[in-house]
Amino acid sequence: MSSHEFRLHRDSWELVGTPRKMAAIKILAIETSCDETAAAVIEDGTRILSNVVASQAEMHAKYGGVFPEMAARQHIITIHTIIQEALTQADVALGGLDALAVTRGPGLPGALVVGINAAKGLALGARLPLIGVNHLEGHLYSPWLNLHPERRPTEGRAQSKDEPQFPLVALIVSGGHTELILMRTHLQYERLGGTLDDAAGEAFDKVARLLDLGYPGGPKIQQAAEGADPAAFALPRAWLVGTWDFSFSGLKTAVLRETQAVRQGSRHGFVHDLAASFQWAVVDVLVTKTLKAAEKFEAKSILVAGGVSANKLLRETMMARAPIPVHIPPFFLCTDNAAMIGAAGYRRFINGERTPLDFDARPNWPLEAA
Ligand code: KG4
Ligand code: ZN
Repeated sequence: MSSHEFRLHRDSWELVGTPRKMAAIKILAIETSCDETAAAVIEDGTRILSNVVASQAEMHAKYGGVFPEMAARQHIITIHTIIQEALTQADVALGGLDALAVTRGPGLPGALVVGINAAKGLALGARLPLIGVNHLEGHLYSPWLNLHPERRPTEGRAQSKDEPQFPLVALIVSGGHTELILMRTHLQYERLGGTLDDAAGEAFDKVARLLDLGYPGGPKIQQAAEGADPAAFALPRAWLVGTWDFSFSGLKTAVLRETQAVRQGSRHGFVHDLAASFQWAVVDVLVTKTLKAAEKFEAKSILVAGGVSANKLLRETMMARAPIPVHIPPFFLCTDNAAMIGAAGYRRFINGERTPLDFDARPNWPLEAA
């Protein structure tokens, strides 16, 4: 007798033989909050069955940043193909899904709406529950992905293989956000602090522009800084003692001043040394304050996520200095993707949450309100 056969017993169905393993929960996730059109299929919140990302970075590069109206229009052109591709690669049909998850905010309003409308259409058509996910929550759940041993990629995976332990202190560093968060358990966020001006990624992007290095600035600065002297320029650090806040605008201005001073004398190799000094100034503050918060709140682990968590110096410095396990997603999950939205959506799904289909985008949705 097969292990999953049913037989009528009195007036109820009784399972005969060894109980069948609970079927895996499959979620199709969609992300269009900024300049990446992305769709993914995630199993049980940790296994990536597919993860398709179409980046518009090249298109926006000539403007030196994301052009919102163009981003929205490009999402409209790309979204259908990306969703189809995610389903094909995962080898699932809509009928094989348990739920849909989509980024509801924060992000560019016109861009968010494209993903949301696509998700609503699919949810209605396939009669699937839909979960509106906070983009920052997605970044926070990215280290939970790929925990399944068969699929765990080695490339770029930072330190701990096990699940992050609570309480944890999380540093979210992206193009739009720099937030220090305390998580005492799943789906609960206490905001300790954040940037008062530029986000960390924004500072990288602006300084890269100052140094004529191109867009997106993070990877360009990292490249330019390789092998250069991070102590060549004494750049300021805003410690903002007594708070968990950050500030990067003074640093940016200092880089501008150095650029002007040095350009007049045109010292050889200054761009590389300045890029390295800037990168070190940002990383030093991010790591020092995160570790202080982890100590203060007796965190059992540290989590770093968001586009800037792809930065090698940040990853290495955090892991070298931290006395507790550090969880940083592999490189391909650091920048925007839909897999992380599926991971967060799964947590909400198993928590019994469903978002009624008349929901709207929340372009300024704070994580603590999610
Ligand atoms: O998370 P993300 O893809 O989009 C937002 O939600 O903002 O982050 C993009 C940001 C950009 O500012 C980019 O310059 C930065 O992440 N970034 C990096 C690196 N790779 C991407 N910053 C520093 N070092 C990197 N290697
Ligand atoms: Zn992001």
